[in-house]
This record gives sequence, C-alpha cells and structure tokens, in this order.
Amino acid sequence: MTDQDPTQITGKTEPCLASEFDRVSLLLADAEKDLENSLIPPHDDEKALKGVITMESAHDPYTRIHTKRVAYYAEKLCLELGYNKNVADYIGRAVEFHDVGKIKIPTAVLHNKGQLTNEQYEAIKKHTTDGAETLLQNSKGYLSVLAAKIALLHHERLDGQGYHNVDGDDLPWYVCLTGICDVFEAMTATRTYQKNMSPEQALQTMWSQQLKANGKFFDPDMLQAFTKIAPDLFAEAEEKIPSIAEDDEDYYMRHAFPAFN
Ligand SMILES: [Fe+2]
Ligand SMILES: [Fe+2]
Repeated sequence: MTDQDPTQITGKTEPCLASEFDRVSLLLADAEKDLENSLIPPHDDEKALKGVITMESAHDPYTRIHTKRVAYYAEKLCLELGYNKNVADYIGRAVEFHDVGKIKIPTAVLHNKGQLTNEQYEAIKKHTTDGAETLLQNSKGYLSVLAAKIALLHHERLDGQGYHNVDGDDLPWYVCLTGICDVFEAMTATRTYQKNMSPEQALQTMWSQQLKANGKFFDPDMLQAFTKIAPDLFAEAEEKIPSIAEDDEDYYMRHAFPAFN
C-alpha cells in the first residue's frame, strides 16, 4: 500500500501525471477564487462529502481507519502548535479526506505486499490528484476546498522531492502538518505485510530522514512539537481508533461503518 512507506515514493513523475497535477491544480485555484469572490455561497459541505467517506470505507476500510487516525493526530498537533480548538477541529475534519483518491486504486495494488512496479507507483501517486478532483466534484464549499488542497499536496516535502515536486515554499502549514501525521501513522499502524514500528522507532526514522534531507523533509518546528506528543497520541489512538488487521472483517463492520462514526 502507498502508506507502507510514503517517504520512499518520490523521484521523477511521469509526464501524464505532471499534466494531471497541473489540471487539478487549476480546478482547485478556480474553486478557491470562486469562494473568495463568493460565487459559491459558503455552506457546510460536510453532508455532501459524507458519500465520499462511505465510498472510502466500502472500498478499503483499512484506509478509512488510517485517515481517521491521521485526522486525530492532526487535530492534536494543531492544538499543540497553539491553534485554537475551532481551527484544530476544522483541520482535523479536512485531513480525514486526504487519501480519498485511493478509492480509484485497485485493492490488489493497495494491499500489494511485494515490490510495486513503476506503473503501480504512478497509480498510487495519482491518489493525490484523484482525491482532490473527487472532493471538488462533490462540493466546492470551504471544507471541500481545504480538503482538496490537503489531498493534492500531502505527499510533498519541504525540499521539493515529493510526489509532484512542489516547492516547499508553496506548501501551506496544514499540508506540512498532515504530512508528518500521515508518515507517523503509516509507520506505526498494524499491517499484515510489514511489522509496525513503535512510536519511538517511527519518530527516530522520521528524524533520520529529516537529517538526510538537510532538515527539509518535514517542517522542523512541527516535527519537534509532534515528537513531544506522538507517543501519548499513539496510545490514545490505539484506544479510540484501534488499528485493524487486514483480514478482520468483523472489525471493519464495527469500526469503519457507518461513515463519520
Ligand atoms: Fe496519501
Ligand atoms: Fe495517508
């Protein structure tokens, strides 16, 4: 699955994905402009997005648990960074949609336990553009536009070596924050295809990646703040949103449904 080690899927993006990124970026810029100019009346679009989450749960309940846990970490990291409760709550809700594009990735690829082919890597990278487009197709309210931005950019890095090689200066703070929570969750989640890391091992790995990237893999202040709270957050998440084994169908039914449970 893409998140088995999201930090490893980088490198040169194929031209077709690059043009896809440009196309979806324009859609997003238009939606942002419409919101700014009030062409789209502000509304609570969570209802409109509920169907997207239901699709994600049905396609891959495993991803659903992952996104819920990442959203939990993101909300808490916002608070740790000094944002107020309303902001933290809103960011958490938007982060929950960050991997929605995976509904277009065949489960055989998502759960591939072996080496992925180049084509499969490209398909996985595309969950960013697919996710942003799906969200915008469902709603163009504030939450959806914010979620689409996160979906599109959450695999970018400060050094510009992410999926779409976006310059680190162009990454909003909430995108950088999502990236940290996403990588940590991916490394610590229980997976059948790999042994999960302890929170301490995951943080150590993230810091060594940070070092290798000359301090420009993750936002350094955010990584510092997250390091302080991550072990406790992990314990909380294990209780509130337990990880699942891929073959535990009963668990899927209890925890992945209904949407927004
Ligand atoms: Fe992702
Ligand atoms: Fe993710």
